[in-house]
Amino acid sequence: MAKMEVKTSLLDNMIGVGDMVLLEPLSEETFINNLKKRFDHNEIYTYIGSVVISVNPYRSLPIYSPEKVEDYRNRNFYELSPHIFALSDEAYRSLRDQDKDQCILITGESGAGKTEASKLVMSYVAAVCGKGAEVNQVKEQLLQSNPVLEAFGNAKTVRNDNSSRFGKYMDIEFDFKGDPLGGVISNYLLEKSRVVKQPRGERNFHVFYQLLSGASEELLNKLTLERDFSRYNYLSLDSAKVNGVDDAANFRTVRNAMQIVGFMDHEAESVLEVVAAVLKLGNIEFKPESRVNGLDESKIKDKNELKEICELTGIDQSVLERAFSFRTVEAKQEKVSTTLNVAQAYYARDALAKNLYSRLFSWLVNRINESIKAQTKVRKKVMGVLDIYGFEIFEDNSFEQFIINYCNEKLQQIFIELTLKEEQEEYIREGIEWTHIDYFNNAIICDLIENNTNGILAMLDEECLRPGTVTDETFLEKLNQVCATHQHFESRMSKSSRFLNDTSLPHSCFRIQHYAGKVLYQVEGFVDKNNDLLYRDLSQAMWKAGHTLIKSLFPEGNPAKINLKRPPTAGSQFKASVATLMKNLQTKNPNYIRCIKPNDKKAAHIFTEALVCHQIRYLGLLENVRVRRAGYAFRQAYEPCLERYKMLCKQTWPHWKGPARAGVEVLFNELEIPVEEYSFGRSKIFIRNPRTLFKLEDLRKQRLEDLATLIQKIYRGWKCRTHFLLMRKSQIVIAAWYRRYAQQKRYQQIKSSALVIQSYIRGWKARKILRELKHQKRCEEAVTTIAAYWHGTQARRELSRLKEEARNKHAIAVIWAYWLGSKVRREYRKFFRANAGKKIYEFTLQRIVQKYFLEMKNKMPSLSPIDKNWPPRPYLFLDATHKQLERIFHLWRCKKYRDQFTDQQKLIYEEKLEASELFKDKKALYPSSVGQPFQGAYLEINKNPKYKKLKDAIEEKIIIAEVVNKINRANGKSTSRIFLLTNNNLLLADQKSGQIKSEVPLVDVTKVSMSSQNDGFFAVHLKEGSEAASKGDFLFSSDHLIEMATKLYRTTLSQTKQKLNIEISDEFLVQFRQDKVCVKFIQGNQKNGSVPTCKRKNNRLLEVAVP
Ligand SMILES: Nc1ncnc2c1ncn2[C@@H]1O[C@H](COP(=O)(O)OP(=O)(O)O)[C@@H](O)[C@H]1O
Ligand SMILES: [Mg+2]
Repeated sequence: MAKMEVKTSLLDNMIGVGDMVLLEPLSEETFINNLKKRFDHNEIYTYIGSVVISVNPYRSLPIYSPEKVEDYRNRNFYELSPHIFALSDEAYRSLRDQDKDQCILITGESGAGKTEASKLVMSYVAAVCGKGAEVNQVKEQLLQSNPVLEAFGNAKTVRNDNSSRFGKYMDIEFDFKGDPLGGVISNYLLEKSRVVKQPRGERNFHVFYQLLSGASEELLNKLTLERDFSRYNYLSLDSAKVNGVDDAANFRTVRNAMQIVGFMDHEAESVLEVVAAVLKLGNIEFKPESRVNGLDESKIKDKNELKEICELTGIDQSVLERAFSFRTVEAKQEKVSTTLNVAQAYYARDALAKNLYSRLFSWLVNRINESIKAQTKVRKKVMGVLDIYGFEIFEDNSFEQFIINYCNEKLQQIFIELTLKEEQEEYIREGIEWTHIDYFNNAIICDLIENNTNGILAMLDEECLRPGTVTDETFLEKLNQVCATHQHFESRMSKSSRFLNDTSLPHSCFRIQHYAGKVLYQVEGFVDKNNDLLYRDLSQAMWKAGHTLIKSLFPEGNPAKINLKRPPTAGSQFKASVATLMKNLQTKNPNYIRCIKPNDKKAAHIFTEALVCHQIRYLGLLENVRVRRAGYAFRQAYEPCLERYKMLCKQTWPHWKGPARAGVEVLFNELEIPVEEYSFGRSKIFIRNPRTLFKLEDLRKQRLEDLATLIQKIYRGWKCRTHFLLMRKSQIVIAAWYRRYAQQKRYQQIKSSALVIQSYIRGWKARKILRELKHQKRCEEAVTTIAAYWHGTQARRELSRLKEEARNKHAIAVIWAYWLGSKVRREYRKFFRANAGKKIYEFTLQRIVQKYFLEMKNKMPSLSPIDKNWPPRPYLFLDATHKQLERIFHLWRCKKYRDQFTDQQKLIYEEKLEASELFKDKKALYPSSVGQPFQGAYLEINKNPKYKKLKDAIEEKIIIAEVVNKINRANGKSTSRIFLLTNNNLLLADQKSGQIKSEVPLVDVTKVSMSSQNDGFFAVHLKEGSEAASKGDFLFSSDHLIEMATKLYRTTLSQTKQKLNIEISDEFLVQFRQDKVCVKFIQGNQKNGSVPTCKRKNNRLLEVAVP
């Protein structure tokens, strides 16, 4: 284990001294100061050798964590600072590894922390022992037995809110591996008087309060209980609630713990029923009733409570009632019944309640034992934990204190015996001479109490059994007689003349000088408490209960097993059980935990020296140290001793080769420690005085400092050297790298310079060659040019020569030809007429013209008069001809075209031509009329039967029949009229009826007026004075104005041989009866699109708006 290697010691970082054995000088004062110092530094544990002193811190300290458990696990006892875990670990390991049964004895006064200590021991052992489902269940059951026992056996007292009111001894059983198997619990002397009466500021046992606070309504009803504490006489009320304690929650914890421990549901219920019965018993009250014989007899005041108890427990009510009123004494086949007075009845009631409760408690312990007992028969190792009252010294000490202190005497006895025995054994084991130790042996006090013939307990029993009147006083008298001479017994009435003067001692008291101090006991109640009497009638009544648990608690009530012998007294019972316990403990290896209470206020941080001093005294702790130091104060195995101090001597430092013992011998010789100060055992060195050990420690500390300096020095040297070496190494590396880098750089420089030079030289060379080559090329070019020029010159010379030659040749030829010609002409002149030249010319001309025409024939354009094509002229001299020809051709083809026309067509064209002459370039409407053929008769009167009458009225040929709008000159509005033109007349007829409205002979038409614009308005002026002109001139608008005007013009011309005057003007006058009205044409601002509109502006103006 890695942890084992870290060797530490209790002596390291010690506050005060961790082990009182080392206290120097040893006195009560130094002892307390040491405890206080440690307590103030949260060191609540201190050793006396292997005994642990524990001072209750009254607050939770962080020293019980799982990490702490790990720290202390498997460490040697003196290795770490004192701790209860160290003791637990030591005990557990020696149990597991050395097969030694252990017992852990925890003592101390109430509130000193015994129960807590026992729980800590148990939890530590549980944490370090084996694991696994089965083992865990066992552990859980063992641990959970605590809450159950605490609920029933603990109560709030003035000293401790959770004070155990019983002694407890628990054996935990382990198998050979150290795994827990189970356990056995023994209980001692439950303080049962608490059931019926509690001192001021204290409470009854927890379970009563827990039940009333924590039970459900249902459960309470079932138990016929009420939640209110004040309903119950047995519950003290002044401290019913304890600060920081939640009774209801604890009740649930207890029920849960019972379940874990293994209580069946019906068992747990039975237990609560008994508890309820006890509570209710307290509420039974008695009243006196006079009887015939003059004696008072007690009667139950209110039988309701009794009835409920009987229902709860299944007891016959009359039986129980009787048991509270009578007492039957059986002696030698004789039964005597006496009535009980009220006081006796109360006594009987309380005795029953106490018995019922204490028997229930014992039953619980047995029941738990049944659950937790080991299941196997294999051999077990045992660790016993004893949590019992410590020594008690009160103002008033009674039977209980006497018993408890007796128990503590016995424990002290066993402690002395075992410690000395162990010490002695160790000496023998180690081969060291045993020196006698002077110490106080309390066997004499034990004898005073338990001696079978004249011990105090024996005498008490004797008194109790004695016939006749027995009182506490008679008992004291007896004591005075028997024990008067005993050194440790004192009493005022003692016969011993020594104490006659001792007035400090009250009457009815005796004092015992216990090993831990003197205690004054009040003799009152000793006899009663020792008798622990329960009337047989009551136990028999209980035995008759239907409740199985209660029945089983009172076996002596069975009449079949009637036993006339008195039951053993409380004192003798206790003596017996203490004897068994002692026997048991003697077989085991003891471990002691001495608990100390630092203050009376249950407060943290307070250390009341007087109180502690008192405890130290009666716990005999100084005695303890003295016993421990009687021989040798300190012992240690050779190996760890050498390991710890080897640095103090040159031979052993740093390594000792030989056996450890020899090493220690050398060491001690070297240090010149006086021989009487130490002894060599077989495996251990024994040091007589703590002083010697501290001297060693001091030397060690000194030496450690030197060593530390040495180590520091060497380390520093080593560190510097390593650093230097590292620097040097680094420097070399850096230098090497730098050199390499520098060389590389230089090389690069040389290389690049060489390259530059090289390139310059190469350039220079190349340029030189280039120059040469260029020169050479220029020379070559010059040569070529010169050659070319020369060749050119040559060629030109040759050419001119050749030309000259050709010219000469040509000239020769021309000259020759001329000469030949003239010669020929001269020769042939005689053969030609004188004007032959003219003839040839004409002939040639003829030929050309001929050719022209022939060619023209083929090139003629189409016959369409509008075809503008005409072939180009071939000869300039034919220009005029060519144009003339074109004109002729055009006229010809026009004629051709005309010739095709019929007469009718001719007429149409004539008309069109007439229109063109009349309107072209004069009226804007004209161009749109060119494309429209002139149809004349738009309205086919012949065909329309509507106009038959009209047709019949007209005999002449109709030239125009068309619907026009006649403009009403009065307002400019228009009316549709049929416009008819015949050869001689112009007619207007109604469009609908065809009735003729006006008839104007053409001779009477003088003029037609119209605008120059793009509109269809026209006025027909009539000859003044004519018949037709009586109504005035006509103003029309027509879609075919051009046609109508043309036709009117032509017809008039052909009929009257007079040209009709056509006036084109944007403003003209129209005759209107006697007046003349001006018709004015205005361009633009049209309202309704492109249709011209006419509007009468005033009497003399008619305005036509034209688009
Ligand atoms: N080691 C401890 N750490 C913290 N508190 C403790 C310790 N020991 C005891 N106590 C406190 O003291 C009280 C009394 O302790 P307890 O063990 O019941 O005393 P005893 O059994 O000796 O009468 C406990 O309820 C607890 O509050
Ligand atoms: Mg306790």
